[in-house]
Amino acid sequence: MSNGAEFYFTEDRVETRGMDVRLLRRLLSYLSPHRGLLAAALGALVLGTACQLAGPYIIKLVIDRNITPRVLDGLAGRVALFLAALAGGMGFLYLQMFAVSIIGQRVILQIRAEMFGRLQRLPVSFFDRTPTGRVMTRLTSDVEALQELISSGLVSTVGSVTILVGIAAVLFWMDARLTIVTFAVLPFLVLFVELLKKFIREANREMRRKLARLNAFLQEHVTGVDVVKAFVQEEKSGREFDVHNDAYSAESIRLTNFYSVYFPGVELFASVAVGLLLWQGGVRVIAGAVTFGTLVAFLEYAQKFFAPIKDVSDKYNILQSALASSERIFQILDTEVSPEYRPLPSGGKSPPRPAEERGRERAARLPPPAIEFRDVWFSYPKGDGGQGETVLRGVSFTLHEGETGAIVGATGAGKTTVLNLLCRFYEISRGEIRLFGRDVREIPREELRGMISLVLQDPFLFSGTIRENVEAGGAEPGRALEVSGVSRFAGAWESGLATQVGERGGRLSVGQRQLVSFARALARDPEVLVLDEATSSVDPVTEHEVQAALGKILTGRTSLVVAHRLSTILSADRILVMHRGKVRETGTHRELLAARGIYHRLYTLQFETP
Ligand SMILES: Nc1ncnc2c1ncn2[C@@H]1O[C@H](COP(=O)(O)OP(=O)(O)OP(=O)(O)O)[C@@H](O)[C@H]1O
Ligand SMILES: [Mg+2]
Repeated sequence: MSNGAEFYFTEDRVETRGMDVRLLRRLLSYLSPHRGLLAAALGALVLGTACQLAGPYIIKLVIDRNITPRVLDGLAGRVALFLAALAGGMGFLYLQMFAVSIIGQRVILQIRAEMFGRLQRLPVSFFDRTPTGRVMTRLTSDVEALQELISSGLVSTVGSVTILVGIAAVLFWMDARLTIVTFAVLPFLVLFVELLKKFIREANREMRRKLARLNAFLQEHVTGVDVVKAFVQEEKSGREFDVHNDAYSAESIRLTNFYSVYFPGVELFASVAVGLLLWQGGVRVIAGAVTFGTLVAFLEYAQKFFAPIKDVSDKYNILQSALASSERIFQILDTEVSPEYRPLPSGGKSPPRPAEERGRERAARLPPPAIEFRDVWFSYPKGDGGQGETVLRGVSFTLHEGETGAIVGATGAGKTTVLNLLCRFYEISRGEIRLFGRDVREIPREELRGMISLVLQDPFLFSGTIRENVEAGGAEPGRALEVSGVSRFAGAWESGLATQVGERGGRLSVGQRQLVSFARALARDPEVLVLDEATSSVDPVTEHEVQAALGKILTGRTSLVVAHRLSTILSADRILVMHRGKVRETGTHRELLAARGIYHRLYTLQFETP
């Protein structure tokens, strides 16, 4: 996860105007299933706006038709109309907000489901290079930002624009010259708003980036808190945390500063506009060019006009941060999922090997080997999309049906990598991997997962009961529980197989966790068992249980095991000795010892007490 920091950079920098439009269009596509509700919301919006626009005009009528000429006739009616417009405005606003929040919830529900579904199908390499904290940020706060956009941003921005246009139209209709005076400040206001918007937008993006980094840091250090403590790194972690935390809060303060300039600024422009209006309006009322009621209506409208401007740019910020969020969300949705079925590239065939041709023809008449690696080359993908160091360099071996193959070798030799590739968690760069004669790239993912059961070095258990964990493997847990010895240790407990394993299996001992993961792998009665033996040692009694269970599990089953236990190695039909990404020796224990090569050295170092 050390490459997280660079990754933020390459990732969060992309943005252009053109992209904004594309993003918006994509977001809008989520709205299209809710057209009916959307139409209702817009209808309520238009009617509500009309009610709002009616208010000041009714005031003008009251002044010009009743107050100035001192006529009582029609006064009560106009006041009633005024109140009705006010009530109508509120009613429609309520309807609009209600409809919009329902739409927002539904859209978010869908996006969240899509994201979760996608996360489940992403290739393993995605999680290698993306800190869990950042994935969490995307699932939670990015989705929230998007929700805010839809439920408060989108439609009310449309609302603000509608009312701005409506007011401008009514003002022009009442008196064009006064309208021009009122709007004289607009160009300056727009300039001011644009400038600040730019700063705010940048500060906002920076703040989110810092927050994601803070979250990633927290996630790593909370998950690894035992390691942090074990190595007495609390103080160092604390200092690092302070750095991230300070960076984030400095950015928030910068953002707040921009807002503090922004709102009073807009207010100032509004006051200047009202001043100009009082001055020019006063002159024209005295000259008899406009009525007193018109001036009052103008003052009312001017106030209504500047409020949404403040609003629009505020909404603009919501829009900006939501766009940044949705960009990241869509990045996940667009990350290529693990390839299911991809036809083999026809050009990339390895050159013919005539010397082997005849032998191959003979072999073709026999049943194909269960597992076959042919000159496999591989390097883990790096975060920036490039290739890392070569981890496997031309690995070839075969394993027949019913055989147990044990892979041994020093740490980092590439043992786990061989298993990863067999399960097709990563794509190989060169060569072929065949399972019962079929290229693994041609086997649909579901089928491949059905054929292979996998037990990892550090077994992962789901929260739930022991039985649920084993049942997750397949429908036949009964025998699996028996063979693996899980029934035996769980039987001694009060709640037996219904015992909760605790989050991530924390409440079971390491040995018990291993047994449960064996049982889970067995429950499916897989054609091929792939096992990365744990290196952590357990007490002798449990060790004996684990060995016994393994012996039963492996007998007669096609299995490929990264072996650390002598018992496993001895019982294997074939041992593959890996060294720096190559299979350097193969054979049985006896043969390999006699050869006095790498295996001999490993064996004497690891298992023979001097
Ligand atoms: N997810 C990964 N991303 C990048 N490099 C990796 C990844 N996993 C392993 N490597 C690298 O590949 C090489 C082989 O690793 P591998 O896990 O296959 O070793 P191993 O033989 O299983 O070792 P061990 O006995 O310690 O489990 C190592 O140099 C390691 O740094
Ligand atoms: Mg390993």
